[in-house]
Parts: sequence; C-alpha cells; structure tokens
Amino acid sequence: MEIIRANQITKSYVVGKVVTPVLRPMDIHIQEGEYIGIVGPSGSGKTTLLYVLSGLEQPTTGVVYYDSTNITEKKEDDRISLRQSYLGFIFQFYNLIQNLTVEENIQLAKVISSKKDSLEIDHVLEWVGMKEYKHYYPHQLSGGMQQRVAIARALVNRPKVIFADEPTGNLDSKNGQDIMELFRRLHHEEGVGIVLVTHSLENLKDCTRVIQLKDGQIVPHE
Ligand SMILES: Nc1ncnc2c1ncn2[C@@H]1O[C@H](COP(=O)(O)OP(=O)(O)OP(=O)(O)O)[C@@H](O)[C@H]1O
Ligand SMILES: [Mg+2]
Repeated sequence: MEIIRANQITKSYVVGKVVTPVLRPMDIHIQEGEYIGIVGPSGSGKTTLLYVLSGLEQPTTGVVYYDSTNITEKKEDDRISLRQSYLGFIFQFYNLIQNLTVEENIQLAKVISSKKDSLEIDHVLEWVGMKEYKHYYPHQLSGGMQQRVAIARALVNRPKVIFADEPTGNLDSKNGQDIMELFRRLHHEEGVGIVLVTHSLENLKDCTRVIQLKDGQIVPHE
C-alpha cells in the first residue's frame, strides 16, 4: 500500500531578491514498509526533501499526500496533528528537551499527539535498551544513548514512517552501528517505514531502495 505520494514537488528558497531552486520537479511514491536511503552531496537537497515529504516544510509547487489525504492543502494545525500521529523524526543532534528527563521527553510526545493507541513509555525504552535511564536528563547521557531515547520517542506513537536526517552523523562508528541495528529492527521486526538521509554508504546496506540526489534532482544511483 502506498503511504506517501509526492507529485511534481519543487522547493525554492527566496533570500532577498535571489530565488534559489533547491528541489527540481520530482515524483516520489513510498510504499508501506519501505526502507529508503536518500544520498547525495552536501547541498543537493536531502534535508529539504525530507522536510517537504514529512510536511515540516511546504513545497513551492506540487502536492504531498499521506494515504489519500492531501497534506499540502491542509491548514498548519491539521498538518501538525497528522504529522504527530503518522510520522516519527530522528535528527543528527537528537533534539531532546534538556530540562526534561528521558521519561518526560517521551511523555511529551505522547501528550501532544492525539494518538489513542500510543505505546507504553517503559515498552519503548526497553526496546531501545534505555529503561534504566528513564529518570536521567539528556546531558547525563552519551550521544549514542540520547539517540536511543530519540528513537524511543519517535516510536511511541506507532508511526507509519520514521524520517531520519543523518542520525549517526554525530556518533562514533560503534555507536553509529548500534543505532543502524535499531533501524534495521524497526523495519524488519516492527514493519515501520524508514526514510533515512545519510552520507555513509555502509548505512545503505539494509535499505530496500536508494534515492540519489544531485543539484536537487533525482539521478540514477551507482
Ligand atoms: N531555509 C533556507 N533558506 C535558504 N536556503 C536554504 C534553506 N534551507 C536550505 N537552503 C539551501 O538549499 C540547498 C540544499 O540544502 P539542504 O540542507 O537540503 O542540503 P543537504 O543535501 O541536506 O546538505 P547536507 O548534506 O550538507 O546536509 C542549499 O544550497 C542550502 O543553502
Ligand atoms: Mg542535510
């Protein structure tokens, strides 16, 4: 089943009088349970594409659908609540709230989503191997541990797709491999769709499909 469809999306940024086209017209269809890698040189538009597909940014032209819902024409509030119930996000710098504990960070994600069937906090913390740390604050944890908590937070509302932007970019190789193993299990055991932006070819080995960007266009992946 198709869960995200982007039709002829483009994105341009305007700074002063200069219009910079960042994404050229493209179509992207994502099926349930796909594990997609997005690669390309710095500045090729990977993060921008992730933001447009996930509704964090509006496309300049074109339309994005979740299932059959046109999210581009939705009001900001509706887009936010759709995002909170369908999607999970993982960023390079974890984006945990520093003055909340591990447990409170995940609780917050549960509370702001309208999802009635969200998972138990203990369950998701156990899943990422962080249950003993639920009363810790982010600054008391290593980068790898913080990223595990961010994965637990992304998972708690049972998303259909998790979007990750260079989730191992700030980690050493051992911690990076452990995080990639969690992604593999998310896809393989939990059936969650994944869209992963990465610079590392090694991280692509579990992907079911790779989208290669160059200058804001999809080009064949070598
Ligand atoms: N908010 C913005 N305003 C203006 N230009 C932007 C904005 N965000 C991105 N850009 C421009 O869009 C282009 C693509 O940026 P993007 O962050 O998507 O690249 P990227 O492929 O993720 O690069 P990296 O690998 O370095 O993270 C860049 O030229 C960047 O300067
Ligand atoms: Mg980027």
